[in-house]
Amino acid sequence: MDCKKNRLLVVQGGKKRFNKNLSVPNPVPEKAIKKAEEILRSGELFRYGCDKPSQSEASLLERDFADYLGTKYALAVNSCSSAIFISLLCAGLEHGDKVLVPGFTFTAVPSSIIHAGGEPVLVECKKNYTIDTDDLEKKASEDTKFLMLSHMRGHISDMDKVLKICEKYNICLIEDAAHSLGAKYKGKLAGTFGKAGCFSFQSHKMINAGEGGILATNDEEIIAKAILYAGSFEKSYEKHFIDTEKLPKFQKKIPTYNQRISNLTAAVARAQVPLIDSNGEKYNKNFKIFSDIISRSEHIEIPEVEENVYKIYDSAQFNLVNLDLGQIKEFVKLMNMENIKISVFGIESGNARCYWNWEYLEQNHSLPKTKKILSAACDLKLPLYLEEEDMKTMGNIIIEVLDYITCEENKMTGTFS
Ligand SMILES: Cc1ncc(COP(=O)(O)O)c(C=O)c1O
Repeated sequence: MDCKKNRLLVVQGGKKRFNKNLSVPNPVPEKAIKKAEEILRSGELFRYGCDKPSQSEASLLERDFADYLGTKYALAVNSCSSAIFISLLCAGLEHGDKVLVPGFTFTAVPSSIIHAGGEPVLVECKKNYTIDTDDLEKKASEDTKFLMLSHMRGHISDMDKVLKICEKYNICLIEDAAHSLGAKYKGKLAGTFGKAGCFSFQSHKMINAGEGGILATNDEEIIAKAILYAGSFEKSYEKHFIDTEKLPKFQKKIPTYNQRISNLTAAVARAQVPLIDSNGEKYNKNFKIFSDIISRSEHIEIPEVEENVYKIYDSAQFNLVNLDLGQIKEFVKLMNMENIKISVFGIESGNARCYWNWEYLEQNHSLPKTKKILSAACDLKLPLYLEEEDMKTMGNIIIEVLDYITCEENKMTGTFS
């Protein structure tokens, strides 16, 4: 490789070859805009302002989402974090109960556990970003009652092993499927393995409604309690499609935390439910083009997904190998100069997905394996509007930048120390 030419392209090139802003989320479909406008004009933004469930976009979203997942019930709320909080309460978490959670997840997850009164117990991750089941088993035996399994960035763990451990130690599994809508393990959708599954409609997830979330379950008691915790008061629960005698039974016993979704957000989310699978296919087609290019570099490792997993690549994670810290920082800097925002979780100051930045946790946690992985793990958004050419351009620039920073001639200048 001609390092000087490369230097010209990367550092002094001036004209950017990649012009899309990866931080911009996917636009919402026209159908969602029309429905949202209709709701705004009617003034009926409140989910319980109607007479029956078929008049509430929130209830219709719950029905459609449960149909997609194949679960009996779903409850739409104002965020995935609320779904996590509520599902832990519904599953019987008591103050001080320990909740196992992967050490690689978003800060909102341990925060929601604390919000519910639990104590997060962090578990190591593997280099494919899934839970380390050896560490899980070790920690599961220590008086823990719950596992909040984040399928971080849509990476699905070995669910057979996870379920076996949960069964062995009588641990209640709840899935944080915020970022794994549409992903499958042995053909079964993520978020349908545990007592409850929690999903997010935050803008950079499979469904973009700005904010919002949903709790899915097959358990009648969980759904009844969840509806009440989330803010059904008096007989508002009659405006859900869910009809259970448990609702009036629990009514006066459950506090009302008002974490409802509005009809407006629900309408935006609902229009995207029928698109989940086709969007997933487009994401994966794009990712294949990109990964075929970058995997040619000896400095990139795209970890194997677990066996029997169908993943959706709405973002890419890959590990940098045989680069020192100076080179990793230079890689990130040059990629940013090229308008391709890649972050390396573990070297970015204050990254909210790094457990050592969760200083609000009472316990000190040491997860050396996870820390090492995150120090070289890259994160890149791959929104749906990217085209085949964009994937090729991004992949080729990554290869060029890696060649540049690993070129002996450039190394000798001491640029990256
Ligand atoms: C893995 C994971 N879990 C939970 C959340 C929280 O979702 P929400 O913003 O809907 O509360 C996020 C959000 O980014 C996430 O990435």
